[in-house]
Amino acid sequence: MPLNILVGTQWGDEGKGRIVDLLSARSDYVVRYNGGDNAGHTVTVDRQTFKLHLIPSGIIHPHTLGILGNGLVINPKSLLTEMDMLTNAGIAVNPQRLKISYAAHLITPGHIALDKAKEAARGKGQIGTTGRGIGPAYTDKAARSGLRMYDLLSADQVGAKVRAHLELINHQLVTQYTAEPVDIAAVVADFEVYAQKLAPYIIDTGALLDEALNQGKVVLAEGAQGILLDIDHGSYPFVTSSNVTATGVFTGLGIGIHAVGKVTGATKCFQSRVGAGPFPTELDGEMALFLRGTGSNPWDEFGTTTGRPRRVGWLDGVLLRYARRINGLTDLVLTKLDVLSGLREIQVCVAYRDAGGNEYAVPPMGVCDLETFQPVYESLPGWQADLTKVRQWKDLPEAAQNYVRFVEKIGGVPVSLVSVGPERSQVVEVPA
Ligand code: GDP
Ligand code: IMO
Ligand code: MG
Repeated sequence: MPLNILVGTQWGDEGKGRIVDLLSARSDYVVRYNGGDNAGHTVTVDRQTFKLHLIPSGIIHPHTLGILGNGLVINPKSLLTEMDMLTNAGIAVNPQRLKISYAAHLITPGHIALDKAKEAARGKGQIGTTGRGIGPAYTDKAARSGLRMYDLLSADQVGAKVRAHLELINHQLVTQYTAEPVDIAAVVADFEVYAQKLAPYIIDTGALLDEALNQGKVVLAEGAQGILLDIDHGSYPFVTSSNVTATGVFTGLGIGIHAVGKVTGATKCFQSRVGAGPFPTELDGEMALFLRGTGSNPWDEFGTTTGRPRRVGWLDGVLLRYARRINGLTDLVLTKLDVLSGLREIQVCVAYRDAGGNEYAVPPMGVCDLETFQPVYESLPGWQADLTKVRQWKDLPEAAQNYVRFVEKIGGVPVSLVSVGPERSQVVEVPA
């Protein structure tokens, strides 16, 4: 079946970019359906590393066509910077290879200023957003006061629309947050340039995708963030503002319910989280340093978009089961197995216990009250061998194989692939 979906099953940064890159080898269309440049997706091919924030990671394969669906909020400045970065690296980005939905919303410097002002006003209750204007842009969308890609197509009206939008935001910035207003004239001038540059890319991408699917083309939907950051199903309010889950694909792309082939979950062998919010299996001290790394390796746990150190902890099997249910996962790709090498034992959370001693295999009220639970762990033997050169299942240490089988059991979903390094070739197929 031609529509495949890849989602992160945790709080983002599961290694989705590198998995999308693999799956794109067999896809015609690579599409983003949610979020914006809060995402940071890393793809490493040979010695070249790309960090993508808006453009689908599958664009690195020259045969693919990239689409930014209507579910996105797009900062045109970031998008143009990313297009230039790819072009300079020899990856063609032009209106033949990249299409943007007319219905995607725009992020302006007003949204970014509001994002920062709101975070400052939250004080201790900060969400720890990426500061990219994501929340305010989706707020404008829901409030029916947003600017869309479509607005960039009327060159003579762009200035007036951006001006009216910024006047409202400046009023809010100054009166509600006593923050600096944005420079309206400068932003208007910038948006007139963005409109000229981006107009050739803007089409009805839903219609294009529907036609492609009817022709049997293979479409890969690339989720941004992870499902625990989903606005409806995540650890609210410590979430992002979009529908991250696989079910968000249809609204975020403007297509009807087409038959879906695989819904693959990208799962890191341990949990990580950037920003605030509950994290039952969080670790500190030496173990946290081991999992996070010190920053000396490019894959160490520091934000791809913000550079912030990521909080880390043991793999949470309870949340993995939740991710399977919310997304209807067909399989998992397990990333960063190589990072666990050298541990004597590895813990996996298999249940939650509440203050009254009751145990839960799945959280009784979604993931809204995670701070009320203690994790119940099962301990597995570790392994010492370096896995980064392993390419076949039979060459993995028995303890690593057992770990993968254990994840399948607690998640209730088969693992199809494990990755043992960031580079395209560093993967091992998992037999059924
Ligand atoms: P994404 O947001 O889900 O695409 O993930 P990020 O790109 O933000 O973070 C994942 C990091 O882990 C990147 O630096 C990747 O290059 C790296 N990575 C992905 N898979 C593996 C793996 O199997 N092993 C190692 N060591 N690094 C990996
Ligand atoms: P990828 O696609 C990890 C987090 C932020 C913050 C919360 C809200 O690379 O996995 P926002 O700026 O969206 O309003 O921030 O969501 N967040 C991410 N964390 N990976 C991401 O993307 C994220 N995108 C947003 O850190 O906690
Ligand atoms: Mg990331």
